[in-house]
Amino acid sequence: MRLCTRKICFEILNSADENSKYEKIINKHKNFFDLDSKDKAFVKVLLLTFFRWNKSIEKIIQKYTKKKSEKKILNILKIAITQILFMRTTDYSAVNIGVNLSKKFGSRTSGFVNAILRQICRDKQKLLGNLKIEENVPDWIFNNWKENFSLNTAIKFAHQSLKEPLLDIKIKKKFFKKKNWAKLFKGKPLFGELIRKSNSGMIEDLPFFSAGYWWIQSAASTIPVTIIENYFKKFNPSILEIGSAPGGKTLQLCENNFDVTAVEVSQNRILTLKQNLSRAKFNVNLINEDFNKWESKQKFDCVLIDAPCSGSGVINKQPDILYLKRKLNLEILVAKQEKLIKKSLNFLRKDGLLVYSVCSLISNEGKDIINKILRHNKNYSLLKLNRKLINNIEIKIIDGMLYSTPICYQNNGGMDGFFVSCIIKG
Ligand SMILES: C[S@@+](CC[C@H](N)C(=O)[O-])C[C@H]1O[C@@H](n2cnc3c(N)ncnc32)[C@H](O)[C@@H]1O
Repeated sequence: MRLCTRKICFEILNSADENSKYEKIINKHKNFFDLDSKDKAFVKVLLLTFFRWNKSIEKIIQKYTKKKSEKKILNILKIAITQILFMRTTDYSAVNIGVNLSKKFGSRTSGFVNAILRQICRDKQKLLGNLKIEENVPDWIFNNWKENFSLNTAIKFAHQSLKEPLLDIKIKKKFFKKKNWAKLFKGKPLFGELIRKSNSGMIEDLPFFSAGYWWIQSAASTIPVTIIENYFKKFNPSILEIGSAPGGKTLQLCENNFDVTAVEVSQNRILTLKQNLSRAKFNVNLINEDFNKWESKQKFDCVLIDAPCSGSGVINKQPDILYLKRKLNLEILVAKQEKLIKKSLNFLRKDGLLVYSVCSLISNEGKDIINKILRHNKNYSLLKLNRKLINNIEIKIIDGMLYSTPICYQNNGGMDGFFVSCIIKG
C-alpha cells in the first residue's frame, strides 16, 4: 500500500508541468481517487513537503551526483530525500521504496539510487544543519520582498512561509459568543470571530459545518470586509464584489446584510461559492461572467476587488508556487489586475469606495498599481488606512496601505502575505 502512495507521487511528478496547479495535476491522476483517505492525505503531504523544499533537495542531489540524471530518476531521488530529511518515514523504508521504484530502470540505476540515498541518510544531520531555508523561495519573490522590506525581513518571511499552514475558521458573528468555539475546534481565538487550529482531518467533520455556523477564511483575508464594515458604519452599502469564489469575503459581506452583487468568471469555482452560500443560508446577486465583459448601468457604494494574483503571499498553503510556477508571468498578471480596477471604477458612485486586495506582498501587484491608478486619475484619492478601520489588529500599515505579512501574529502561526489598499472616487 505504501509503495503505491510513493508510486502515485512519482507518477504525479513525472506528469507535472510547471504551469499547472498542483490540485489540477492530482485531480487528473486516476489512481489517486482509489486511495483511502489516509493514503490520499499522505500523498498530499509528501507532495506539498517536496514542493516546499524542492530547491534545497535539488542542490543536495547535485552535490551527490556528478552527471545529470534523467527526470524520472531525479523524481525518485526527490521523493525519497523528501521523506528522509523532512518527514517521519524511517530511512530504511524511504531508501527501500526509492530503490524499488528505480528497479524498472535496470540494476545499474537502482544501485546508483541505493548508494546516493544511503549516503544521504548517513549525512542527514549535517545536511539539515546546513539548509538555507530562503533558497527555496524563487528570486523574483525573494528579491521583491528584500527591496520593499529588508533582507532580514525577507529571510523571516521565507522561514515562516515554509512552515505548514494552520487553519482559520471564521464564525458567524451572531453565533460567536454562543459557544466555546476554541474548545470545540481544539484551537485558539485569534482576533475578531476567528479561531485558528491545526490543519488536520476533514473540514466537513468539524462541529456545526453543515449547520453553516462558520466557514474557512484566512485571518488576513477577513481584513477588506472589516474595512468596509467600519467605513460604512452609518448605512448599508451596495457592494460590487469582483472575483468572489470560493467566497470567504462574500459570506462576510452577507452577514452584514449588505446588498451584494458578486461577479465570478470561473464556472468551477462558482460552484464552491454556491455551496458555501447555501450552507450559510445567504443570498446574493451572483453573476457567472468575466467582469471585463459584464455590463450594467448600476452604480455601487463600494467595489471590492480580490484580484487574481501570483499567490506569493500564501506559499505555505500553496507551496506548488515554489515548484510549478517558475515561469509565472508577473507582467501579464499585473495587466489583468489593472484592467479589472480601471473597469470597476466606472461602477463606483461619486464618493464611493474601491477596496483592492491581493494575497501577495509583491509591490508590482499592490502599491505600484494603486499609485499608477492615482497618478492617472485625478478624480480619485487614496483612503489612508488606519488602525481604527481594521479594529486595531496588529498589521503593518505603510503610507496608508495595508500589509499583512507572514511575521504578523508570528507567535500564533503568522499571517498570509496580503495587501489591501482603498481609493475614493471624488
Ligand atoms: C483571489 S480569488 C478570490 C477569492 C475570494 N474573494 C474569496 O475571498 O474567497 C480571485 C478570483 O477572481 C476570479 N477572477 C479572475 N478574473 C476574473 C474576471 N475577469 N472576472 C471575474 N472574476 C475573475 C478568479 O476566478 C478567482 O476566483
